[in-house]
Amino acid sequence: MSESASLPSPYKLISLDCIDSTNEEAKRLAQDGAPEGTVVWAREQTAGRGRWGRSWTSEAGNLYCSILLRPDCHAFKAVQLSFVAALGMAEAVSSVLPKGAFVNCKWPNDVLVEGRKVSGILLESQTVPLGGMDWLIIGAGLNIASFPEEVEFPATSLLREGAKNVTVEMMLETFCLRFLAGFVTWKKLGFQPTRKAWLRRAAWIGKEITVRLEKETLKGEFKDLDSDGALILLHNGDERRITAGDIFI
Ligand code: BTN
Repeated sequence: MSESASLPSPYKLISLDCIDSTNEEAKRLAQDGAPEGTVVWAREQTAGRGRWGRSWTSEAGNLYCSILLRPDCHAFKAVQLSFVAALGMAEAVSSVLPKGAFVNCKWPNDVLVEGRKVSGILLESQTVPLGGMDWLIIGAGLNIASFPEEVEFPATSLLREGAKNVTVEMMLETFCLRFLAGFVTWKKLGFQPTRKAWLRRAAWIGKEITVRLEKETLKGEFKDLDSDGALILLHNGDERRITAGDIFI
């Protein structure tokens, strides 16, 4: 057990040295009835997972955590929380980098520093009949000390980007606090404040991008983020609303 980080109420922190995946552990706890605000943090993961079934390199020195939520809303709205999380992570990253460092959000929920990926978010959920949420897990990985070299999209770490005296504990606390502030705003005011703040940090708005979907690849202009968090792509003169995929430039 590692016990050197602390989170304020309503968080309940579970600190582990090593686990298969913090998302998996959070899921197990969710199935056993753990409350909203449970945070699973591990120093290492043996089976860290990324989006689209990819693996997530998880050696000690980086941040791996999962926040369990039980939002009282329909699943399509709960997806908005991945933007709340990405924004919270972008703010946490910005707070430890030299002034002027470019910290952007890449759709749907990556955080980039100077165009390289420093953090990724994996959202997993279980719904109840009629589309409400039983649980939602927000898994966040942040490269602090190291980053993978052999990846499709270039990666980086906080240390490489000039962060000094940064610890995993500090980043866990800062991320969770920023997320909590965004979550409270989202519950009170809906998605609009998050959407606007995310757009201010968005990478490649107005640019020609390539969107890789499950079964096709599209090219077009990244026009907007809609009121549910979908990407609006101007493709051959038509607006396409995209809810899942990966984007490239
Ligand atoms: C991605 O960009 O593909 C998402 C990566 C998410 C990685 C985090 S690390 C903590 C949590 N546990 C996991 O197994 N995955 C997420």
